[in-house]
Amino acid sequence: MPDNLADPTFHANPHPSYASWRREGPIRQVRLASGAVVWLITRYDEARRALADPRISKTGGDDRHPSNAVEQALSRHMLAADPPDHTRLRRLVSAAFTARRIEALRPRISDIAEDLLDRFPGTPFDLIDAYAFPLPIQVICELLGIPADDRDAFRAWSDIIVGGVAYQDQFPGAAAAMVGYIQGLLAARRAEPGEDLLSGLIGVRDSGDSLTEDELISMVFLLLLAGHETTVNLIGNGAYLLLSRPERWERLCAEPALIPTAVEEFLRYESPVETATYRITTEEVEIGGCTLPARSPVLIGLLSANHDGDRFDDADDVALDRAHNPHLAFGHGIHYCLGAPLARLEAQIAFTALTRRYPGLRLAVDESELVWRPGLLLRGLFTLPVTPG
Ligand code: HEM
Repeated sequence: MPDNLADPTFHANPHPSYASWRREGPIRQVRLASGAVVWLITRYDEARRALADPRISKTGGDDRHPSNAVEQALSRHMLAADPPDHTRLRRLVSAAFTARRIEALRPRISDIAEDLLDRFPGTPFDLIDAYAFPLPIQVICELLGIPADDRDAFRAWSDIIVGGVAYQDQFPGAAAAMVGYIQGLLAARRAEPGEDLLSGLIGVRDSGDSLTEDELISMVFLLLLAGHETTVNLIGNGAYLLLSRPERWERLCAEPALIPTAVEEFLRYESPVETATYRITTEEVEIGGCTLPARSPVLIGLLSANHDGDRFDDADDVALDRAHNPHLAFGHGIHYCLGAPLARLEAQIAFTALTRRYPGLRLAVDESELVWRPGLLLRGLFTLPVTPG
């Protein structure tokens, strides 16, 4: 009988379940909250291999036929594509995300962080709402060249869209609102082009046929979604790992040179993307002694792989100075996270500024009161109440 991941206690702390599954084998069948039964890869070596295996694809080799126009407009992005579409779509934006281009954003990201810190109240507040969320949003909105004012509406829709079965009934409305919103952004930029990424993408689309209108909408959707739903959890989960053990927080405040390795450890230990996005086998594939028939859905457990004791020494310890940390938190292979340099830079700046300005920061509630978001895709807290100290 497959294991049931709908159990609410699973999300509160999935680590013991993953640990016992890894002990039993590298892959197993599990039942999702939707009722679907899928294969879940739990060990590091098998996960890494699967991420680079073209037989474990995004489309199963078929051209997909989304059921309606809205779904079509949101599903034509690189993360849902196989080569050659994937290669073409990724190439169009990869220049905007090179390490050099991202490093040039450093002063502006620091200003945004300092600005948010200036506004912290003197009484207990939610660190997610005041810092972990607005920082990456502001950055991705500026990069794309769109107003950050709409972020609350945008976040409500994107939470529903990525939240899976917990939000099933609201999905069609949120998806339609999202497409309408992006169409509005594109219309505004077409009327008044700028130097930003959005104008650049529109230019590509409007000057040739290398990007369809649906692909353009999907690309903007993916970049905004990645900007809204992932780095917030890296900063939030990192702050949780530090503040739930004050000695860790104090160590990082005293040794800020550890921040880059600490950020890698946050990525490993509470990976913001818990399982890689949907994949399906194109043909019969053997993984860890199991034979998966063609067209089998496969989940690759990044959080679980990142706790594999065969790959990481003392895998269940948080080591802020871990020297060798080949985690899979940004994926691996052709879909390796395009935004990894940006996410790393944002998190390093966020913790540098936070430790320097608020060394007295403390959790304002007991760790057991913290609530993790539902769904298997993302791992993050709803809120992180803190006292400024
Ligand atoms: C892909 C994680 C931030 C843009 C991915 C994948 C992972 C990931 C695991 C691969 C998923 C798969 O193979 O199924 C993360 C984490 C982040 C983060 C943990 C923050 C801590 C960002 C940011 C951006 C971004 C800030 C851009 C603004 C993308 C894009 C892809 C991607 C465009 C698709 C790449 C492709 O299909 O070739 N990310 N991401 N990510 N990420 Fe990120």
